Amino acid sequence: MSCPPDFLRLGEEDLDALAALAESIVDFPWSRGQFADSLAAGHALLGCKAAGSLLGFAVTMQVLDEVELLDIGVARSHQGQGLGRALLQRAMAAAMAKGAQRMLLEVRASNAPAIGLYENLGFRQIGQRRDYYPATTGREDALIYDKELA
Ligand SMILES: CC(C)(COP(=O)(O)OP(=O)(O)OC[C@H]1O[C@@H](n2cnc3c(N)ncnc32)[C@H](O)[C@@H]1OP(=O)(O)O)[C@@H](O)C(=O)NCCC(=O)NCCS
Repeated sequence: MSCPPDFLRLGEEDLDALAALAESIVDFPWSRGQFADSLAAGHALLGCKAAGSLLGFAVTMQVLDEVELLDIGVARSHQGQGLGRALLQRAMAAAMAKGAQRMLLEVRASNAPAIGLYENLGFRQIGQRRDYYPATTGREDALIYDKELA
C-alpha cells in the first residue's frame, strides 16, 4: 500500500477533499454539508492521507456502547490494497477504546465490495430494509450488519 501509516482525525480543513473523494467513488455521495454536519455533531471522521492527499475515510457515530459506521470510502486508485480494511479496523479499535461493544452498519444490497469487506472482518447480516436507498433506477434494499467488538 502506498499510504504511509498516517491515519488521522479529519477536520474542517478536510471537508472539500472528503466531498470530492466521496463524489468520485459512489453514485449517491455524502455532500460537503453532510460531512460538515457529521463533524459538528461530534462523529469520528478518520482519514488516511499520503503526500497530503486524502486516500480514504471512515465516519462513525458512537452512542454509549454502540457505534455505527456511517460511511467509508477509498479512492478508486487505491482500492483493493487493504486500505478499507485498515480504516475499518482502526475505526473499530478507536470505538472500543471509548467503550463500544458493538458496531452496526447499513449497506446497499448491490455493493459487493463493501459487503465483502464487512464479511471479511466478521460482520454478520442481521436485517434488511426493503427499498431503503434511492438507486439509479428505482430503489434498492439496505442490508443491516453488526459485529460484537468486545
Ligand atoms: C468498500 C471499499 C471501502 C473497500 O475498500 P478497499 O480498500 O478496496 O478494500 P480492501 O482492499 O481493504 O479489501 C478488504 C476486503 O474487502 C473485500 N473486498 C474488497 N474489494 C472487493 C471486491 N471488489 N469484491 C468483493 N470483495 C471485496 C475482500 O474480502 C477484501 O479482502 P481480501 O483482499 O483479503 O480479499 C471500497 O471498495 C470503496 O471505497 N467503495 C466505494 C464506497 C462504498 O461503497 N462504501 C461503502 C458504503 S456502505
